[in-house]
Amino acid sequence: MLANVSKNVFLHASQNRVLNKAAKKWGLRFGAGQVVAGDTIEGAMKKVRELNEKGLVCTLDHLGEFVSSREEATEATQYNVRTLEAMAANGVDCNLSVKMTQLGLDIDRRFCLDNMRRILDTAKQYNNFVRIDMEDYAHCQMTLDILRELRETYDNVGTVIQSYLFRAEQDVKDLKGVPLRLVKGAYQESPTVAFQNKEDVDKNYVRIIEEHLLSGSYTAIASHDHNIIEKVKEMVEKYNIPRTQFEFQMLYGFRSELQLSLVQEGYKVRVYVPFGKDWFGYFMRRLAERPQNVAFALKGFFSK
Ligand code: FDA
Repeated sequence: MLANVSKNVFLHASQNRVLNKAAKKWGLRFGAGQVVAGDTIEGAMKKVRELNEKGLVCTLDHLGEFVSSREEATEATQYNVRTLEAMAANGVDCNLSVKMTQLGLDIDRRFCLDNMRRILDTAKQYNNFVRIDMEDYAHCQMTLDILRELRETYDNVGTVIQSYLFRAEQDVKDLKGVPLRLVKGAYQESPTVAFQNKEDVDKNYVRIIEEHLLSGSYTAIASHDHNIIEKVKEMVEKYNIPRTQFEFQMLYGFRSELQLSLVQEGYKVRVYVPFGKDWFGYFMRRLAERPQNVAFALKGFFSK
């Protein structure tokens, strides 16, 4: 009951434009620094270097909420280009994750596509890869259409499929050969399009992981769930899947010990590292997802 109340409070806060805007001026607060790697490219590079030194590879996500003008989307595009340039200049082992709404998907599809082409051209120049994060169901088909169009020209782009969606299994089949990050799904979706109970989501998750791995496609399993991770370890053993065909992914600041123990066992582990001034919405969503995280938020709050 209390968990539900706090979940709703954090979800509401994450969508509050006034708070999001104010937070940009505050700088990282309330312990957000434990899950957001600074608010500048330089700060993010430092964190990525530290993670690389521990044997972890990374993907950087420049945080951005509520992009509603062409100017903001262009700015976000330029920032992503600069981030790729900084990765190359710093020689870090890191790729990029982007959200289509940040590049203007809600404004104009063509414009968004052109912005993404600029980012992919830069990535190509540095032999790097860009992953399109998956947002809510309302954007799913549009995102997959954009991916398909981009894949006609670029091989350095992939996306994310969410196992809570009924359509996930078919999408994974259709995307054979495309590098996919597989997740359970982070948004509140209607029972008309998505499984509502955890057991179904988990079952479908294992099903799509198996589907993509067995089709010989590169698969990123992005989960903090040790049960899933154990199942994947058994699966790759059983089917003799080479370790070069998959990786585990986790968020920066979550289950850091598990990340390192997987590295020690010889698995590839990629840390999803969010950074930027627009940290508030991301931080609130993480608190909503897992009320246990509130403890470190409060600690951070009182230590300011
Ligand atoms: P889940 O929340 O189902 O928890 C299962 C169990 O795992 C828990 O009961 C607990 O035992 C354990 N556990 C989970 N978190 C823990 C923690 N922090 N500490 C200790 N134990 C923990 N979503 C999306 O819709 N689009 C996207 O593009 C992405 N991208 C993405 C990238 C990466 C790298 C990750 C890790 C996740 C995403 N997600 C995402 C989010 C994803 O869809 C999902 O919401 C979260 O990962 C939560 O689901 P899990 O599988 O991690 O565990």
